[in-house]
Amino acid sequence: MHSNGDTPHATDVPNCTTDLSIEDVKQELYNRHHPSLTFLDIEAHARTIHKIRTLKQKHNVVMLGHNYMEPLVFGLSEKEEQGDSLGLSMYAANTESPYLIFNGVPFMAETAKILNPSKTVLVADKSAGCSLADNFGAEDVRHLKSLYPGAPVMIYINSYADAKAESDICCTSANAAHIAKTMPGDTLIFVPDIFFAQNLEEELRDEKNIVYPGKDNTARGAVCEVHEKFTLDDLLAIRESFEIPKRHAHRKLYAHWECRPDVLKEADFYGSTSQIMKDIAARVASNGLERAFVASECELTSNLAQEFPEVQFWTACSVRCSHMARVNLNKIANILEAIDQKDDLSEFEITLSPETIDKARTPIERMLEASV
Ligand code: 13P
Ligand code: SF4
Repeated sequence: MHSNGDTPHATDVPNCTTDLSIEDVKQELYNRHHPSLTFLDIEAHARTIHKIRTLKQKHNVVMLGHNYMEPLVFGLSEKEEQGDSLGLSMYAANTESPYLIFNGVPFMAETAKILNPSKTVLVADKSAGCSLADNFGAEDVRHLKSLYPGAPVMIYINSYADAKAESDICCTSANAAHIAKTMPGDTLIFVPDIFFAQNLEEELRDEKNIVYPGKDNTARGAVCEVHEKFTLDDLLAIRESFEIPKRHAHRKLYAHWECRPDVLKEADFYGSTSQIMKDIAARVASNGLERAFVASECELTSNLAQEFPEVQFWTACSVRCSHMARVNLNKIANILEAIDQKDDLSEFEITLSPETIDKARTPIERMLEASV
């Protein structure tokens, strides 16, 4: 539904590039007029945010922030350091800084490490998972390859390095349809996300035979535990109670590719997190959006609400990714203090063997080359 190769998006919140006092930090936070940031949030967290920003600057740390980070964490990243999986991978590949803190889940940080192995890549919580990456491994890829000999494997970026290492090409939600079309042959194995595969199958129904776990086979696959929560009935209820009729000119219902196929069909627009943001930005720029609901992780909507105060957003904050939510200000401050004190960083550092890095880099680099 989109063009590919999204770059990270911008917010109008000034980030730290100069020496700021705690009072300056507070004032910046108040100036955001963020609908979900209260006086208490700001007073309680200003000191920690000040510490993070000071140490980030002192040690020339790149701090990548996925679009699902809660607003106070998201705002720690410079505009160009914020984005979706594709945008952040592209940014990570080219960074010169010695330290890269990835505010997201470990599979994302692994991609950064694979693309830029000489850097120290750090995450706030190494135990944070992802229901897609955690439930599918290298052995599962090998099994599917044995079922469809000769068919190339396209692996979703929400997977760990050992599974990527067994695959031909990687993709993200921003470029899956485009990348699939570049692959040779009629049949393409897509792993591990079953809903995503079904959505891709529908999108490319006249062009590719997409095979995936569970389609005429008993192979193991996975779904996103967050996006599977949205049902068609939920979306219909949202349309009715929030008054977003289908094909309304200024009211839109958005969904992420990881949603169920009937949810995606019901949405007015679907894409990656940054593609959803870009569509909203374009409609706002032409005074074309007054109300929206986004069927995705709820902090994406929190960040959208800050960036586009002219749009009425309805949030579903019971729909949070518990893995993404493990990243918080205190843990980020702990990483920076450890860097500052020259302490052991192993609690936070992403490490992969040189062999895994070598094997997993090929499918990721192929994706970046094929992305437009
Ligand atoms: P994006 O690549 O669209 O940012 O999505 C990543 C993700 O984990 C979605 O749940
Ligand atoms: Fe994984 Fe879903 Fe969380 Fe994204 S939202 S990190 S796919 S569990």
